[in-house]
Amino acid sequence: MSVDTLEKLLIDELKDLYSAEHQITKALPKIAKAAANPELKSALESHLAETLGQVQRLDKIGEILGKSLKGKTCEGMKGVLTEGASVLEEVASGNIRDAGIISAAQRVEHYEMAGYGAVREYAGLLGMKQVAALLDETLHEEKAADQKLTKIAKSVNADAMSVAV
Ligand SMILES: [Fe+2]
Repeated sequence: MSVDTLEKLLIDELKDLYSAEHQITKALPKIAKAAANPELKSALESHLAETLGQVQRLDKIGEILGKSLKGKTCEGMKGVLTEGASVLEEVASGNIRDAGIISAAQRVEHYEMAGYGAVREYAGLLGMKQVAALLDETLHEEKAADQKLTKIAKSVNADAMSVAV
């Protein structure tokens, strides 16, 4: 067992998040392009910009800790994004697809929230105040993105309901 301390677990999980964020930066442009609702499209586009900042924040954390966060693949996010991509292929464009996109995007946010919540706590316990503060910033962004999607879903789902069978 090579991960035998909380600090090593922190690094291991940060590597996972680093991979997850990179995967998201690659997937989001395609998802944003497929969204029909302008509010949803712009929310996804602004979250892409935010995600690029989150990658930079992880780079900074790697520098602070003196560790490279590269070299791991987050299999969980890979699966979540693969399912998200299937929405674009299988669901008819327009309101129904938008509803599916929101559902997929919220799965991404919740996965990230779980990950960032855990590492923020580890960093806090380990006395790494600067690292914990940076992770907290990202956690708040993910929560805000999730809440924004919940709000947009209200109108998108209502529109999806009105699509004739
Ligand atoms: Fe993120």
